[in-house]
Amino acid sequence: MHLGVNIDHVATLRQARLTPYPDPVEAALLCLQGGADGITAHLREDRRHIQDHDMERLAELAEEGVLHLNMEMAATNEMVAIACRLRPQACCLVPERREELTTEGGLDVVSHRTRLASVVERLRDAGCRVSMFIDPEPAQVRASHEIGAPVVELHTGHYANLSGMAREQELGRIRAAAGQAAELGLIVHAGHGLTLENTPPIAAIEAIVGLNIGHAIISDAIFKGLERAVADFKAVMRRS
Ligand code: PXP
Repeated sequence: MHLGVNIDHVATLRQARLTPYPDPVEAALLCLQGGADGITAHLREDRRHIQDHDMERLAELAEEGVLHLNMEMAATNEMVAIACRLRPQACCLVPERREELTTEGGLDVVSHRTRLASVVERLRDAGCRVSMFIDPEPAQVRASHEIGAPVVELHTGHYANLSGMAREQELGRIRAAAGQAAELGLIVHAGHGLTLENTPPIAAIEAIVGLNIGHAIISDAIFKGLERAVADFKAVMRRS
């Protein structure tokens, strides 16, 4: 199973102070050392975290064969032009609203079929494998297949926010959508809101072959690395 680590939140921390650090590209290389199979980054229209120069450097590393890059993007002309120039191995089309804190729902492929079909075609012609980030709904899976997308990424954000029976029901919807997509010949990924606690039932779904995880990994890294970071400062102060 492929793990794509989303490094957006390293850039979020950097943009909060407009400092040159922490560098998301350096973080990407560390993720690879930790066993990540690929790097996912979302160039948002408002550039709230990843910047154009980050995506350019990631694309250079992808071209050199250092990493597999999945560029998350809205299906806008601006983003399609950038993706066609940078040619990441994979592009994931996501809905985007400026006022949202994160990608809150899946793409409505059913309602925007014609436009999305042309975006999929342009990206495919540029050599990118296109994925549709959709809610686990049969109609969205069918429409993604009909417009020629080779991959779907099932939105697990809803599942992650639920508990008890409601979570079990949502897990059932994800399982069914994954099975339907795989039967249609689609490659099935999943992601959003996944943590160490809620990932196992999703990772156990046979049809799902890739997960994209960001926020929880960057959050866990704070606790796995904070002690060491403080100790390094104390050592510098002692030596000075
Ligand atoms: N997949 C997609 C399409 C996303 O938009 C995001 C968030 O940027 C993720 C996966 C990762 O979600 P999280 O940061 O909650 O792990």
